[in-house]
Amino acid sequence: MDRIRIVGGNVLAGTIPISGAKNAALPLMIASLLTDDTLTLENVPHLADVEQLIRILGNHGVDYSVNGRREKQQEGYSRTINFSARNIVDTTAPYELVSKMRASFWVIGPLLARMGEAKVSLPGGCAIGTRPVDLFLEGLQVLGAELDVDNGYVIAKTRNGRLIGNRYVFPKVSVGATHVLMMAASLAKGETVLENAAREPEIVNLAECLVAMGAKIHGAGTGTITIQGVEALSGARVRVIPDRIETGTYAMAVAMTGGDVMLAGARPDLLQSALDVLVETGAEITPTNEGIRVKRNGAGIAPVDVTTAPFPAFPTDLQAQFMGLMTMASGKSRITETIFENRFMHVQELARLGAHITLSGQTAIVDGVSKLKGAPVMATDLRASVSLVIAGLAAEGETTVNRVYHLDRGFERLEEKLSGCGAVIERISG
Ligand code: EPZ
Repeated sequence: MDRIRIVGGNVLAGTIPISGAKNAALPLMIASLLTDDTLTLENVPHLADVEQLIRILGNHGVDYSVNGRREKQQEGYSRTINFSARNIVDTTAPYELVSKMRASFWVIGPLLARMGEAKVSLPGGCAIGTRPVDLFLEGLQVLGAELDVDNGYVIAKTRNGRLIGNRYVFPKVSVGATHVLMMAASLAKGETVLENAAREPEIVNLAECLVAMGAKIHGAGTGTITIQGVEALSGARVRVIPDRIETGTYAMAVAMTGGDVMLAGARPDLLQSALDVLVETGAEITPTNEGIRVKRNGAGIAPVDVTTAPFPAFPTDLQAQFMGLMTMASGKSRITETIFENRFMHVQELARLGAHITLSGQTAIVDGVSKLKGAPVMATDLRASVSLVIAGLAAEGETTVNRVYHLDRGFERLEEKLSGCGAVIERISG
């Protein structure tokens, strides 16, 4: 199994190109199931999760070509991929595939809306929490789906071949359920109103895609989304937005090690709350035409309290990285996680590097230390793993991060991007 070896202590200086967002690319790819035309996506990152979803979609009959050629392993920061779901050959998403990546459960929306039926495995729990799918099921039922759960599968059918528009108020904000209901409602009969919908930039990116495919959607990016169903959707060409979590991760790395880095292609409006917090810690953040410039020279890291919450608040997907930064702050900070019930696995691993963190329910109290010391560490999810990389960059001596496959799910060319800015970081195979 690959490992990442880091020798900490260097400041970061240079340019890091920001990739397309994983969490925007995945729902856009799934939207290809809604049409028999070709959906072309630009700026698709080369990540394990994207490759896995290509396999899952392939199982339903979706054909794809990368930059015009069918080439699986093509490297590149930005890929253009054509998806064609002309012939859906299977409306079943099997357990073996869905259990590997939760977002693959989302195929239930487009399959049901276009084909009138879907059989999708329940994804099960995952490292960061129980993550139920009750809101997806309740919402689809409100749109007229008949659902049955049998042998670990959700079996969904429409009554007369088509979903029916309706009003659904999410009892809790859910990114995935908003994606799914927006896709499903696009092909439903009549109007759907989704209230207390997620407002994440990835929702807006999906809405832009659906509108380019001919859907009638208003209000994406606000809490109320209105969708007038249409009979069929066409192909389109859509660009994946830059990854706000990758942007925030590298910004936190620079805030921690010190230095001066241009995050090329990053969009400040996608992560304003996190950038505001970074400014409070003492980092200088300057939006430019090229992207976001992040600097910290000399001054210490000020402790800042954060609470994760749905967009536009501080994202849960940056909580672990921010905790990494706070381990070296000049004082105490409190980090409260409100989205997932078990998203503190990095705490014990950061402690291996010398961090002082105590947990009190859903709050971590971080008592900043003046230095961290390298050690072998591992983590059980993507964002926790990258928080260890950030801490390793600032720690004295050598840190080895095991279970690199977590990082490969969501960070494109991590070692290359960081070593290009002066970090000593390499992948050790085997
Ligand atoms: C998306 O997950 C992201 N994944 C997550 O990123 C991110 O952490 C999360 O949104 C929150 O921002 C993708 O976009 C692929 P939710 P999602 O439904 O949609 C509960 C990463 O590291 N809930 O908004 O699965 C749920 O358990 C990943 O890239 C229900 O109770 O998240 C959670 O507590 C990790 N019932 C809360 O809602 C449901 O039916 C928010 O989850 C659905 C969700």
